[in-house]
Amino acid sequence: MDASGCARIAVFDSGVGGLTVLAAVHAALPHLNLRFLGDTARLPYGTKSAHTVERYALQAAQCLLRDGAVDALVVACNTASSCALPALRAALDVEVLGVIEPGAAAAVAATRSGHIGVIGTERTVASGAYAQAVAALDPQLVVHARATPLLVSLAEEGWFEHPATDAALRAYLQPWLTDPQVRHIDTLVLGCTHYPVFAPALHRVIGELLGRSVTLVDSAAPIASELAQRFAKSAGSGQVQLYATDSLERFARVGGLFFPMTTSQLALIDL
Ligand code: DGL
Repeated sequence: MDASGCARIAVFDSGVGGLTVLAAVHAALPHLNLRFLGDTARLPYGTKSAHTVERYALQAAQCLLRDGAVDALVVACNTASSCALPALRAALDVEVLGVIEPGAAAAVAATRSGHIGVIGTERTVASGAYAQAVAALDPQLVVHARATPLLVSLAEEGWFEHPATDAALRAYLQPWLTDPQVRHIDTLVLGCTHYPVFAPALHRVIGELLGRSVTLVDSAAPIASELAQRFAKSAGSGQVQLYATDSLERFARVGGLFFPMTTSQLALIDL
């Protein structure tokens, strides 16, 4: 808490994707003091080994907690949430919230067909974390997961609506969604915090491929609700500080498409 009693929340991701979570938290709880780190120097995490992601996640978290006074840490990265939560919880003396369980819960609540699709990074998909989280809530449900790693680069390029994005979506989704099992999905988890910016493109391409819509879910709003239950609302607006481990110019240019920011909020940081 700061002197006025407002909670301080630290949030990190490999890059600008975690700003989708930050934006939802800030919109729902504008009084919270938020500190965000994008580890842009080491992006992407999703193609790295679990051991490397765990090491990076620990360093990013320790950097955000360096001067203490943080009430909760949000791992706004599915990749890090899928393989580093136990290490983070063991190493840090602060509540750690990951994004997999809230996203899985939203999908379980949304599905009617009992078939849930998940798209994410290679590491997140290989971890099986969504299948485990869904099975813990309802073992009858079937989870189909597909790695779509190029989407991270397209998001970091700011190409939310672009022919190359539609082409990548078709190349990933066409063979997957035409599989006789997978085509039953009615809910798709955007299992990477970079992906919510592609919601319009995803609706368009999935509509073309399946001839119907599916419900898209992600973890941003569920994380904001979880924080709202823990930290009472108060008047006033909190401070937002944003750190990146590489090029602030790029972070401001692309990150600003995810979360409006001013240069005074930005600082370069070395882990
Ligand atoms: N935004 C991150 C996630 O949710 C990963 C992007 C990456 O670094 O590969 O998984």
